[in-house]
Amino acid sequence: MGGKEEKGLQTQWWKIDAEKPQEQYIRRAAEIIKEGGLVAFPTETVYGLGAHAFLPQALKRIFLAKGRPQDNPLILHVAAVEEVKDLAADIPLKAQVLMERFWPGPLTLIMKKLPHIPAEVTAGLETVALRMPEHKTALALIKAAGVPLAAPSANRSGYPSPTMAEHVYADLNGRIEAILDSGPTGLGLESTILDVTQETPVILRPGGVTREEITKAVGEVIAAESKSLELQEIPKAPGMKYKHYSPKAEVVLIEGRVENILQAAAKISEGIRKEGKRVGLLFTEDVWRQAKEKTPVSGDYIKSIGERENLASVAHNIYRELRQCDEYGLDVVLTETYISEGLGSALMDRLLKSAEYKVIKV
Ligand code: TXA
Ligand code: MG
Repeated sequence: MGGKEEKGLQTQWWKIDAEKPQEQYIRRAAEIIKEGGLVAFPTETVYGLGAHAFLPQALKRIFLAKGRPQDNPLILHVAAVEEVKDLAADIPLKAQVLMERFWPGPLTLIMKKLPHIPAEVTAGLETVALRMPEHKTALALIKAAGVPLAAPSANRSGYPSPTMAEHVYADLNGRIEAILDSGPTGLGLESTILDVTQETPVILRPGGVTREEITKAVGEVIAAESKSLELQEIPKAPGMKYKHYSPKAEVVLIEGRVENILQAAAKISEGIRKEGKRVGLLFTEDVWRQAKEKTPVSGDYIKSIGERENLASVAHNIYRELRQCDEYGLDVVLTETYISEGLGSALMDRLLKSAEYKVIKV
């Protein structure tokens, strides 16, 4: 991976009150941005790695620090809806409705770009991704910098997105100037990416704002099928071309009725552990209840990741737990699948990619 020349920086780590971001730190962070540096900051989805949207040198450093392929474009983060007219060549009516309804919030809109947006942001595309995050620290930083922030998730490329400052530090220490730490992010999965350049909007990446919510606001939407697009040359949406959201451990999904999942997991785990490998088991309370009743199961890391009735709890925990599996040096992680609707669509999108589509049906 690239980025050797980026190592050796002294990465500052500042604790920021999420309710009332301290002005002195926000000011220092904004100075870093204006001088072409990189600052990681919390959003309501995951931590982002911010740079000045109009400084090509700063933008290049994002790619180096992350080890990110250069043909993968960046989202511009704004602090107000009004900023969009200075960035987008055309604001469709549906985009206007969606911004009013969902901003600030986890919805990124793809629109035609204005010519002055650097090619480093758009990877040479004619469109630009725009989003207004719902987090006081993020908004304070964008405002203080006085420019939109280009910001991908603040992880090393391919790894699960960071939901805590500790994750950012583990991945990017020595490669970036500062981390604004406001604690764990709320949602835990990235924003929805919606292409509104066509009459019928297309969901390129499911996320925090659901298809159902978008449909309610602006009518029909198309959900891009990530599997079939995977082989296309130009990545139309994140995760379609590159390995994504993956811990070092091999992730395997188990799909089936709650009663059957644990039984299958117990068997698979036993087999893998006999080979001397270490296994992690990440399941919901619903699955673990079966263990208490009848199925004994053994593993090297056993964790509850939330409740099926409350997918937000699973979304909030999943990246942290996948990273934790690497901390424990696990070889294989077994986890379950969810219904692909509502927030479940985003969750399944990430899980399938992180498992490279390995699903065992039971
Ligand atoms: O929640 C989020 O969206 C987080 C926080 C930090 O805002 N950001 C994030 O950025 O997930 P990133 O770079 O990890 O994922 C954004 C994806 C990129 O992978 C890229 O493929 C897609 O957005 N993207 C950016 N510009 C695009 C464009 N013009 N057309 C299509 N896709 C675009
Ligand atoms: Mg990312």
